[in-house]
Amino acid sequence: MAIKTLQEKFIHGLGDIYDAEHRFLEAQQKMLPNATAETVKTALETHITETEEQIANLEQVHELLGLTAKRVPCDGAAGIVLEGDKLLKETADVPTLADLAIVGGCSKVEHYEIASYRGLIAAAETMGQADVVKLLTENLQQEEKTAQTLEQSMPMLLKQAAQSSTASA
Ligand SMILES: [Fe+2]
Repeated sequence: MAIKTLQEKFIHGLGDIYDAEHRFLEAQQKMLPNATAETVKTALETHITETEEQIANLEQVHELLGLTAKRVPCDGAAGIVLEGDKLLKETADVPTLADLAIVGGCSKVEHYEIASYRGLIAAAETMGQADVVKLLTENLQQEEKTAQTLEQSMPMLLKQAAQSSTASA
């Protein structure tokens, strides 16, 4: 359907991130048993709970706009999940590399979400939807914090991966 107004484009974007959050929730739940490092496990567990809250926030945003939340198939999210899944399978024999694959994949997810929420917040601000801005900002802040946590876990994981690569060489 053709999108002709900012409001329609905004609602499309909401449906898009609503679908993306569901896909990412499922992907995180699937990745969790493959995580070895405590930092990675904890980050995933925390963010699984947060993602559930974010889905509820998005449902509340829809309610504020008098709508029922509907998933608009998000090809971007589907692509990132598929790519992460493939890399995780390829690294499955080496726990340190699998942890790095999980952290790298999740980091891409977070930045996709950050870009999506920033765009939606800017549009909601323009349309004067203060309550919507507040809920979307809660989600954005969780994504930013998660991206930071994941990036901070990388140096240690990289060091371990480098050591195990040397040991097996
Ligand atoms: Fe996230």
